[in-house]
Amino acid sequence: MASPIKVAVIGAGRPWRTEGATGFGMSHRHWIGFKETGRAELVGVCDLMVDRAKAYAADHNPQARTYTDYTEMIRKESPDYVCVSLWPHLHAVTVKAVAALKPKGILCEKPMDVDWDAALAMHEACVAHGVGLMINHQRRFNKPFLEAKRLITSGAIGKLVRLDSAWHNFQDSGTHLLDMLFNLNGDEAATWVLAQADTRGGRKVFGALQESHGIIDFRFANGVRACHRAGKDYKDLGCIVRATGETGVVEIVEDGPRWIRVRQDGGGWDYPDTGGESIHDDAAIGRGIADFVAAIEGNREPLLGSRNALRPTEVIFAAYESALRRARVDLPLPAAPSALRKLAAEQGTEF
Ligand SMILES: NC(=O)c1ccc[n+]([C@@H]2O[C@H](COP(=O)([O-])OP(=O)(O)OC[C@H]3O[C@@H](n4cnc5c(N)ncnc54)[C@H](O)[C@@H]3O)[C@@H](O)[C@H]2O)c1
Repeated sequence: MASPIKVAVIGAGRPWRTEGATGFGMSHRHWIGFKETGRAELVGVCDLMVDRAKAYAADHNPQARTYTDYTEMIRKESPDYVCVSLWPHLHAVTVKAVAALKPKGILCEKPMDVDWDAALAMHEACVAHGVGLMINHQRRFNKPFLEAKRLITSGAIGKLVRLDSAWHNFQDSGTHLLDMLFNLNGDEAATWVLAQADTRGGRKVFGALQESHGIIDFRFANGVRACHRAGKDYKDLGCIVRATGETGVVEIVEDGPRWIRVRQDGGGWDYPDTGGESIHDDAAIGRGIADFVAAIEGNREPLLGSRNALRPTEVIFAAYESALRRARVDLPLPAAPSALRKLAAEQGTEF
């Protein structure tokens, strides 16, 4: 029988749209995902606001001990897996501190961090300590996207030639869309990025500034071209992800009930059945966690591992660098803080 898994969570925000919520309370969804393995025990809950940690334990396991200091929690509880559900500027610093205490794995929320050097450092710290790091780009496991990947890899649209996406921003939820382009192209590296971003009128999401309008043009090493558009007019693309092959097209849309469509050149749309599952379904989180645990136990890379997450993250930070320099940026992008600070200052936007 598979051995039990001890889980601890850092950041116990109240669930979305409930009293006292400051965000989505993603760690609740992480625990539900771990619980689905049938082997998990919630041993510790940490939040700076102790009432949130206590409420979380009351919701999921009243036996779990509560903490306000995550280092103390990990030292006392020795969890196998630690979930980090904090706002983005705290991701790298927390993941590095947790990695030094050597759990088997860390599940950190997206985006990796607000700086490229920090994102690289959190990945490298986990590699150095032999700790698995999952970044919650869970949409790779939503059925419409699983079906899109299946169609592309089975040759249903011929050789893939370009990928397009459109969303509100680059860095917050936009990271899911950029990650999806890499997923659909077999996690090839990107070679260059040419981009522009307008921060004027941009708003902060989880404390991090998002551009109000932007575009990222980039190329993959296998020659596939890609473009991500962001801003209030993002719906103009007519879908949120489009994969164009030599003989057909697959599109994913934001609103159901038909989330995916595929057509051959000259033909009409077919709508593959995804069992009614949307692109937003939390079932994907449990599937991502199951793959993460299996990967750690099987000594392989998880699909949502930080190695895969670094590629779209690099494109996002290269896009800010390109916008600042008004020039193409060739990859790899050297480790550095985000160019978004300087870009915002040039554009008169508070960072
Ligand atoms: N994957 C997704 O689809 C998805 C969806 C929504 C949000 N997110 C991401 O999830 C992350 C967390 O967002 P959330 O909605 O869970 O936030 P939240 O505001 O609901 O919860 C954050 C909690 O962290 C606590 N906290 C802050 N600093 C702490 C510290 N040093 N130690 C312990 N606790 C601390 C806060 O008190 C708060 O309770 C963000 O990066 C966000 O982008 C991901």
